[in-house]
Amino acid sequence: MPNMDWERLEKTCLSCQKCALADTRHNVVFGVGPRDAEIMLIGEGPGENEDLKGEPFVGRAGKLLDDMLEVVDLSRTKNVYIANMVKCRPPQNRDPLNTEQDACIDYLRNQVALLRPKIIVCLGRISAVRLIKPDFKITKEHGQWFEKSGVQMMALFHPAAILRDPRRRPETFEDLKRLQEKAREICEHTY
Ligand code: URA
Repeated sequence: MPNMDWERLEKTCLSCQKCALADTRHNVVFGVGPRDAEIMLIGEGPGENEDLKGEPFVGRAGKLLDDMLEVVDLSRTKNVYIANMVKCRPPQNRDPLNTEQDACIDYLRNQVALLRPKIIVCLGRISAVRLIKPDFKITKEHGQWFEKSGVQMMALFHPAAILRDPRRRPETFEDLKRLQEKAREICEHTY
């Protein structure tokens, strides 16, 4: 798939039929946030609320994500762009299959090429395994920096995982502080 500009990419993505998730979705969840953000967050795939609204992270986990970002002066309306590995909801919220991720990855690649983020934050194991390294261990390696093609990458616990296990909150707070510190160091207009 050749690279497209934002408008064409979004339009193409919204009518995608590349995998079976197209048959059960209500809305494609393309992404949200300023298209010049220096920080990009990448989740797994839309859940029920996201599928109904067409926007990433709008359910309970999304509210927690917004609260977490606010702690370090980040928000989807101001300075972070949020997308997912797959743009359509996997039924019953199962993990997206590798074949579904493969079908969808070019949209994400194109989003990254357009945004040219300085920092990519993977939300949870699924995107970290695919984007940082195949043997990524979220419990051990969350909050650590990895450099790939000049982009600083780290993973946070997925907000839904934090809701399930609040003991992850203090560690996530530390990870967010590290994110803020890195953004202050390498981003030009985030703060
Ligand atoms: N979980 C995700 O990974 N992405 C969303 O958009 C919502 C929940």
